[in-house]
Amino acid sequence: MKKTLNQMLIIFGASGDLTARKLVPALYNLYKGKHLPENFVVLGASRSDMSDEAFRRKVVQESEFLEKKISKEEASYIKTFADKLFYQDLGENYDSDYSALAKRIAELNKDHGCEENYIFYLSTPPSLYEVIAKNLCEAGLTTEENGWKRIIVEKPFGYSLETAKELNEGLHKYFNEPQVYRIDHYLGKETVQNLLVTRFSNSIFEPTWNRRYIHHVEITNAETVGVEKRGGYYDKSGALRDMFQSHLLQVLSLIVMEPPINSSAEEIRDEKVKALKSLRLMTDPEVLATHTMKGQYVASTINGKKVKGYREEEGVDPDSKTETFAAIKFFVDNWRWKDVPFYVRTAKYMPTKVTEVVIHFKSPAHEVFKSHDAYQKDNKLIIRIQPDEGILIKFGVKVPGLGFNVEQANLDFYYSDLDSAQVMDAYERLLLDAMQGDATLYARADEVEAAWKFVDPILKYWENEDVPTYGYAAGTWGPRNSDEMFEGHFGWRNPGKRLTDETGFCIL
Ligand code: BG6
Repeated sequence: MKKTLNQMLIIFGASGDLTARKLVPALYNLYKGKHLPENFVVLGASRSDMSDEAFRRKVVQESEFLEKKISKEEASYIKTFADKLFYQDLGENYDSDYSALAKRIAELNKDHGCEENYIFYLSTPPSLYEVIAKNLCEAGLTTEENGWKRIIVEKPFGYSLETAKELNEGLHKYFNEPQVYRIDHYLGKETVQNLLVTRFSNSIFEPTWNRRYIHHVEITNAETVGVEKRGGYYDKSGALRDMFQSHLLQVLSLIVMEPPINSSAEEIRDEKVKALKSLRLMTDPEVLATHTMKGQYVASTINGKKVKGYREEEGVDPDSKTETFAAIKFFVDNWRWKDVPFYVRTAKYMPTKVTEVVIHFKSPAHEVFKSHDAYQKDNKLIIRIQPDEGILIKFGVKVPGLGFNVEQANLDFYYSDLDSAQVMDAYERLLLDAMQGDATLYARADEVEAAWKFVDPILKYWENEDVPTYGYAAGTWGPRNSDEMFEGHFGWRNPGKRLTDETGFCIL
């Protein structure tokens, strides 16, 4: 077990949604699970004027604690946890003098024995990251003479390759790379980490994990909701930036990477960077036209209820061409994956909430049961990241009776069947790792830049007015023509029924 040293967590943007929704519940669970160090306090900082008490009330009330009925015992537990929360008003804006903040941190450090070990968690708009880092440095809060200092930054990390590079350079003026923790909550998911274990702790998968046996790889991330209240943010971002550049390329890098020489943060991240660098860049418009597709959900009727289209959502430009569906086909230029197509799609408002990786295996080299439909369905390894976390293998078995008829059977494993299936929330795991100085599940500067390098040309191509944005009815599996990128054989695996008969197909 790694040791968690005494420390203080300082959250910038603490009056925002993330603190109450994710960070405080995660910290509370760590507290309940006795994972927090003996001396530990949280200092929330933002521009709102609030007392410590008001901050405690706000985050406890807004967080998930009170959603369920709580026992007396739990209530007293919450109270002792809340006593660890403090608040500091930063004044007019984040670019102000941090001496009052430094003074408060010093007092809390002295009173609570935090040993000058500080984590600064930036849950503010990304445009403030560098400003905050600079002000922390000027207030003398970044020196590591006594105690370590770390900084956690939320996504989005940049808006393009250029802006991500600028942000990295900006942060590196005040923090060294090992002090910077770029959070991607997908890496905190148990099943995403299990990709490493499935691949590298078993000897049955790795021998077939290559171009010789794999026909193609498919990754789907589908959500059943639209953009909800985040239209303003989403309309400037789109699915490719919001999900693909970060979460899905992280998942992909774990599928594509070579075995690391050990499980240290640097070795694993070195291999992930190599994997991302081996993605074949797409710059030719003809390739981009056939290998990428963008779509946007349009109004539909689901179970007799009218559902709004993306352009009618609050904060969205009524003529917006921002994609809520993105599908990309690409290749990986290395020995292991040469000529194996990868298909990755992400979308809002689909029929089912699912994130899964599907490894499609090639047909056997010699088809013995040719006349019996045996090869119509390929062997598949399906890694369900969420929900119903688990692994499913689909393989052919003989239908009992005469002849050699073949049918697909399932070998299915659910995480929930494990006795010890206490799955930690992604934020719990990631916060604890940062507290312990383990950056394995955080993205490194070169990793983020390699991901942007692949995504940038697609984004540039999509800015072109001639590139179609296909409409799809909310509640369907995306644009009607989205199987076309598979060029004839196969199509997307759609693990759930469409919620409407409408297609909504159009060019926006
Ligand atoms: C966030 C995106 O990073 O991830 C959201 O900004 C998306 O648009 C969310 O809904 C999905 O996360 P999860 O854990 O629900 O798959």
